Amino acid sequence: MRIIIQLSLLASLGAATSDAYLARSAPKCSDPASTLSLTDLPYHNYFYSDCNVATQAVVTTPQQDSDLSIIGPRLIIAWPAGDSGACMFFEPQGSPNGTLAIELVNSTIGAPLGPVYSAPKPPGKSPSVGVQSVLRFNATATLNLSILGSIRTIRDFVEGPSLLHPELQDTIKFISDNTGVSLQRTWLDNVTTTKLHFKPFGNSSSNSNGQVRLSNKTVTFGAGDYIMSASINYPQLTALKPKSVLNTASKTLAAEQPAQAAALSFLSYSEKLMAGAWRFLTYFGRDSMISALLLEPVLSDGQGSAMEAVIGAVLERVNRTDGTVCHEETVGDYATWTNAQKGLNSSAMGCDYKMVSTYSSSTHVAILTYFQQIDTDYFLPVLMERYLVQNPVGKKRSSTFLNTTAGTINPANANLTWGDLALISSERVMRLARPFFLDQTKANLIRLNEGEVVGEWRDSTYGLGGGQIPYDVNTALVPAALRAIGTLARSGLYPKQRHWSTLADKYAKVWEDSTLSFFAVEIPKERAQSLVQSYAKSHFPGPSQADSIDSAVHFHAVALEGSNNLSKVEVMNTDDCFRHFLLNTTNDAQLTPFLNQSANNIKRTFPAGLMTDAGMIVANPAFGNDPIYAQNFTTGAYHGTVIWSWQLAMMAKGLEMQLGRCEVQSNFSVGSRIRGRQNSVPSPVPAFCTDDSVYYNVKDAYNTLWDSIEANSEQLSAEVWSWVYREGKFVTTPLGVLPAPPGVGGQTESNIRQLWSLTFLAVNRNENYR
Ligand SMILES: *[C@@H]1O[C@H](CO)[C@@H](O)[C@H](O)[C@H]1NC(C)=O
Ligand SMILES: *[C@@H]1O[C@H](CO)[C@@H](O)[C@H](O)[C@H]1NC(C)=O
Ligand SMILES: *[C@@H]1O[C@H](CO)[C@@H](O)[C@H](O)[C@H]1NC(C)=O
Ligand SMILES: *[C@@H]1O[C@H](CO)[C@@H](O)[C@H](O)[C@H]1NC(C)=O
Ligand SMILES: *[C@@H]1O[C@H](CO)[C@@H](O)[C@H](O)[C@H]1NC(C)=O
Ligand SMILES: *[C@@H]1O[C@H](CO)[C@@H](O)[C@H](O)[C@H]1NC(C)=O
Ligand SMILES: *[C@@H]1O[C@H](CO)[C@@H](O)[C@H](O)[C@H]1NC(C)=O
Ligand SMILES: *[C@@H]1O[C@H](CO)[C@@H](O)[C@H](O)[C@H]1NC(C)=O
Ligand SMILES: *[C@@H]1O[C@H](CO)[C@@H](O)[C@H](O)[C@H]1NC(C)=O
Ligand SMILES: *[C@@H]1O[C@H](CO)[C@@H](O)[C@H](O)[C@H]1NC(C)=O
Ligand SMILES: *[C@@H]1O[C@H](CO)[C@@H](O)[C@H](O)[C@H]1NC(C)=O
Ligand SMILES: *[C@@H]1O[C@H](CO)[C@@H](O)[C@H](O)[C@H]1NC(C)=O
Repeated sequence: MRIIIQLSLLASLGAATSDAYLARSAPKCSDPASTLSLTDLPYHNYFYSDCNVATQAVVTTPQQDSDLSIIGPRLIIAWPAGDSGACMFFEPQGSPNGTLAIELVNSTIGAPLGPVYSAPKPPGKSPSVGVQSVLRFNATATLNLSILGSIRTIRDFVEGPSLLHPELQDTIKFISDNTGVSLQRTWLDNVTTTKLHFKPFGNSSSNSNGQVRLSNKTVTFGAGDYIMSASINYPQLTALKPKSVLNTASKTLAAEQPAQAAALSFLSYSEKLMAGAWRFLTYFGRDSMISALLLEPVLSDGQGSAMEAVIGAVLERVNRTDGTVCHEETVGDYATWTNAQKGLNSSAMGCDYKMVSTYSSSTHVAILTYFQQIDTDYFLPVLMERYLVQNPVGKKRSSTFLNTTAGTINPANANLTWGDLALISSERVMRLARPFFLDQTKANLIRLNEGEVVGEWRDSTYGLGGGQIPYDVNTALVPAALRAIGTLARSGLYPKQRHWSTLADKYAKVWEDSTLSFFAVEIPKERAQSLVQSYAKSHFPGPSQADSIDSAVHFHAVALEGSNNLSKVEVMNTDDCFRHFLLNTTNDAQLTPFLNQSANNIKRTFPAGLMTDAGMIVANPAFGNDPIYAQNFTTGAYHGTVIWSWQLAMMAKGLEMQLGRCEVQSNFSVGSRIRGRQNSVPSPVPAFCTDDSVYYNVKDAYNTLWDSIEANSEQLSAEVWSWVYREGKFVTTPLGVLPAPPGVGGQTESNIRQLWSLTFLAVNRNENYR
């Protein structure tokens, strides 16, 4: 994917605005507006934010090689406030698809976006804010379909089976006046209105062709330029500027990596961090917590900081009855609509703890994020421990922070403090972890919810190969959460459950030591070689790399109890990274071979291992010896043989942390290794540190991984990407252009920026390990 980035801080654009009703009356901002422009054809993304509004615009215009059944002229305006937006589909009038190009162009009113502001009526309510821009059509165009309200309503149409909700669509008012045409829709809350307005600009106004006309509900534009303005009067969030997203020690990052910092800033608000733009412009539990764990070294701390925004947003949304952490929230117009479906007359936010999707699981990969997730609960104590215990600022803030009264955003939690909700959620973790602590059988491992095929980060139809018992949750997330709960209890943060100070660690030790064996896969050398040879013969046009397999291949199944009665889903994978990153296990008999095999698998080239020229892939089906693996885990599958940015970051950081256990700060300089000096360090040095073959193998894997990360630096801010094998190389390719695996409805429109793909702001190569 070739992404072109332009970034600028505009000196007070508001003042330069010539157009009448737009930004004149806007309160002055002390900081300049920040804008970011990202092109990933056929998409042009523009971000505009100042102290009054944050908006993203996405313009799609067909390219010569575009599939016209998927790509047409489309303009989306998206606001993090209320997860709201407007979506407009255009068509060439009287000529075939592909003959109309649209663009937003720089002008006196914006470059290309400028702010819109009109004072609240009555005063005290929310002002109407948004953006304006010059919209250019190169041919006569019709606006055939507009969706005004929630991003979720737009996604229902774009990603679902073209689902439109007539009760929302029919309330759009089409108004023609002497300046142009407007579309307005009052939300179901009866308070908020989304407004679009179009009027001729520049040469269009003097050109008899350059007219915008309304006929019934179709708007027609002559070729030319129009001022488009889009606004909502919904309360805006409090944006965290690049400076206030980063901590004091990391402020220079805003200058060193301005585009990353600007993207992070656009996704960061003092109320919550957003998961991705434009499709996930709202709270997502897993995404924000994984991002915060990786970004913690650079994120701002203290009151009103990014760290507190993430943890506070999660605690605010915990289900007070059973302690479940909210996966995705429903806010704005979609919340009122969802409430109305349940017969409630309310605009209160809701949370998806349970499956609420109206689609079948085969419709679309992205839709599956609506299903209940079982991993999210375990990230919360880990993140709380990192901030409220390990971070000195967080530690000082801990009692005040946990004493915050909930209910401001989620009325269902009124009367509870965030500390109460943390406790309720940790009680859930302790409750779910207890059966396996008592009796280490497969039946007591954590499973996906009944009837689901997804429930952790590999949340697409084939992500776990139908597996019911995921590897990451059981071997890493549960024990890490338990360790964290123990530390939180010892720090006095769970006064009602003091006995967790020792009990949680007892649980953790059992979960650390007794879960890996359920997932272990061992394939003797000759068998492994013949498996990759036969895989390459039918599924991969390059070399099998069988020669690189010099001993038995070991890895852990991505899940247990897969489809087609598989007891283990024998797909080699990157989920080792969770244990590396989240746990300091002490059982050397397990840790040494675990690190060694993880290193081997990272170093070997696909299909013998996980490495490709395009990066480390998250799943390798070559050792499965069953056609269902190869056919479902493809280069076109969301969690197939593809590369995820944050997995690279977590693996790199995880290996670095394990290597770091071989050093003591006191007598040795950083980078020098302990050799059998167990008594002088606080915790015993792991045995692998003094086993040269393993230690250097891990270090080698670390460097192989970093060489590949550096070679793919252009991709790192994207969510996921894939490859094609051409002329002896794995060549990077957007996932969206490859066919989806059989049975999956359509391909995903990747978010141009995803929160957890910005984690390389904090994850850097440790030069001591070169
Ligand atoms: C043109 O595009 C529209 C909208 O995407 C679609 O409904 C229509 O079928 C297309 N027409 C042709 C001839 O492909
Ligand atoms: C408008 O742009 C499209 C796509 O680039 C092109 O095919 C078409 O010929 C253009 N139309 C005019 C009238 O220039
Ligand atoms: C539009 O304006 C932006 C911001 O000033 C600038 O970076 C960009 O190059 C301009 N684009 C064009 C096509 O002139
Ligand atoms: C879009 O509107 C034009 C003009 O009214 C019409 O000819 C065309 O069929 C419409 N397309 C769709 C997909 O409704
Ligand atoms: C909005 O107004 C309609 C019509 O008066 C009413 O039926 C509905 O309950 C109101 N909705 C809310 C959320 O107040
Ligand atoms: C507008 O709608 C009316 C009634 O629905 C119909 O009679 C008329 O033909 C339509 N006009 C156009 C230009 O499509
Ligand atoms: C309007 O003016 C712009 C430049 O100012 C030009 O690129 C565009 O082609 C013109 N459009 C028409 C329809 O004349
Ligand atoms: C919270 O959990 C309880 C118990 O599992 C459940 O009945 C309830 O529906 C959940 N609340 C929401 C808002 O989903
Ligand atoms: C917690 O907050 C309440 C008010 O919300 C206050 O009365 C109480 O003293 C606070 N407790 C602590 C320990 O800070
Ligand atoms: C909160 O407390 C008030 C007063 O004690 C009570 O009226 C209200 O129902 C409580 N709300 C919840 C959500 O428990
Ligand atoms: C792909 O996976 C599905 C569901 O996990 C399974 O039912 C199917 O058998 C697999 N596909 C093939 C071709 O085996
Ligand atoms: C693991 O130990 C290292 C020091 O060796 C420490 O920096 C790190 O925080 C520990 N990680 C966890 C998850 O306890």
